[in-house]
Amino acid sequence: MGRHIYVHNPFCISKCPYCDFYSCPNVSKGKIQRYYETCVNEVRFLAANKKSAEDDHMDTIYFGGGTPSYPDAEHITTLLKTILEEFGIKEAEKTIEVNPSSLDMDKAGAYLDAGFNRVSVGIQSLDDEVLKLLGRRHDRKGAIDALKILKDAGFENISADLMTGVPGQSVEGIKNDCLTLASLGVKHISTYSLAIEEGTMFFEKYKNTIEDIVSPDLERKMYHETLNCLEDLGYKRYEISNSALPGFESRHNTCYWDGAEYYGIGAGAHGYLESVRYGHKDDIDGYIKDFRANVYTEEVMSEEEKMREYPFLALRTKKGIDTQRFKKRFGKDIHDVFSEAINKNVSSGLLEDEPGFIRLTLKGLDLANQVSEDFL
Ligand SMILES: C[S@@+](CC[C@H](N)C(=O)[O-])C[C@H]1O[C@@H](n2cnc3c(N)ncnc32)[C@H](O)[C@@H]1O
Ligand code: SF4
Repeated sequence: MGRHIYVHNPFCISKCPYCDFYSCPNVSKGKIQRYYETCVNEVRFLAANKKSAEDDHMDTIYFGGGTPSYPDAEHITTLLKTILEEFGIKEAEKTIEVNPSSLDMDKAGAYLDAGFNRVSVGIQSLDDEVLKLLGRRHDRKGAIDALKILKDAGFENISADLMTGVPGQSVEGIKNDCLTLASLGVKHISTYSLAIEEGTMFFEKYKNTIEDIVSPDLERKMYHETLNCLEDLGYKRYEISNSALPGFESRHNTCYWDGAEYYGIGAGAHGYLESVRYGHKDDIDGYIKDFRANVYTEEVMSEEEKMREYPFLALRTKKGIDTQRFKKRFGKDIHDVFSEAINKNVSSGLLEDEPGFIRLTLKGLDLANQVSEDFL
């Protein structure tokens, strides 16, 4: 199994009222430049201190955010080039997240030339009223223009993020958005149910009222009907929030649910290497000052913990837990280790236990967290 790299880009033009990702608006150009110089130094340091032969097989690189399309493209392309050179990467899935309001043809061309071969666009909705409520800086036209720019620049593998369960949104509206995205050649669609996160503006606005405005039944209806519509359009759901045309599943997303190892680079980034889950503090200044001092250990995973986490992650995927793989990895039959969790959830119709795979049923999908907890 190869390794993976995640780079965090903690800058945005402005903060969306629902978002609790680590990202800062209004950061000076000088600081952004120093940030990316530090990322380059971190990459060189990591490559000079490779952990194992696995580091010679970097399978995916993912620039996430924040908004990687907000800083000058030169910072991003220099950093990608450094990663490719330092780790000797020839073939890999290389994704960049972009926001329609900070993308133009020059940037799209620069990303492609530097080697990115996959783009994930924060579309959220193609309904101007919904976009306004979400505090997005782009409208429907801006979102569609961004997709056209990427296509014209030469990107084939384009993904779009959509949000569901937003006040004022309708099932029909989301289905129409899916149709439009399909007609524009989008290959992968992530659908996220609006989460009201503490510390965001939406938390103050909706913490007590969201279920009155969007009832849980309507929210679930939107989720399931969106998935059905995507299936009809040829996008197969391969994980709770992700659907793709065949062959366009994200290898980077998949690495997290497979328990694969990955480097986390940049302030706010998390990584998992040699049984250690670690993080970089959410602190751009601290990172620039000393990227090594910015790192903290979140958890040292024992074999027992890895074994408990494996089903927790794998249950997010449509194929579910590969029982042979579990046996090969941990030397035990999953039915012996988790008999109680499996029997309980199979009898209540939330899990199906088929030869080779244990997976969530359609009913189980709505209670995925509850089922996964039983394995932890
Ligand atoms: C880092 S952003 C994507 C790139 C870029 N920053 C943008 O917004 O266009 C990751 C995605 O997470 C989703 N997201 C963020 N906050 C969310 C929330 N509170 N509930 C549901 N989805 C959320 C959005 O779909 C967003 O596109
Ligand atoms: S949703 Fe994207 S653009 Fe909006 S604040 Fe979060 S990271 Fe920034």
